[in-house]
Amino acid sequence: MSWINVAPYADIEGEETLPIEVDGQKICLYNLDGKVFATDNQCTHGDAALSDGLIQEGGLIECPLHEGTFDIRTGEAKGAPCTQDLRCHEIKVEGGVIYLRPA
Ligand code: FES
Repeated sequence: MSWINVAPYADIEGEETLPIEVDGQKICLYNLDGKVFATDNQCTHGDAALSDGLIQEGGLIECPLHEGTFDIRTGEAKGAPCTQDLRCHEIKVEGGVIYLRPA
C-alpha cells in the first residue's frame, strides 16, 4: 500500500483527535504531544467513535461510551471493558502534510 495524503497537519494542530475517512475506512488521527498517530476510529468493544473520546495521561485514548482505553501508539487494549486491540495505521508528516499507509 502506498502513502495517502489525508490531511494538512494544521487540521490536527491544537486538536486531540481528528476523524477521517480513507477508502471508506473510518480512521482516527491523534495528536500526542505534536506527534501524529492513527488507528481505526471504531472502538473494538462497541459502536463508538474514538475521535469523540479523550486523550489521557500516558498516551491512552478513552472511549466515550464505556470508558475503556487503548494505547494510541500501539492500539493495545489497556482498560476494561476493552480486550481486543485496535488496528493501527502508519503515519508520516512531511512538508506540513499528514500521509497515512493503511494497515
Ligand atoms: Fe468503547 Fe464500550 S464501546 S468501551
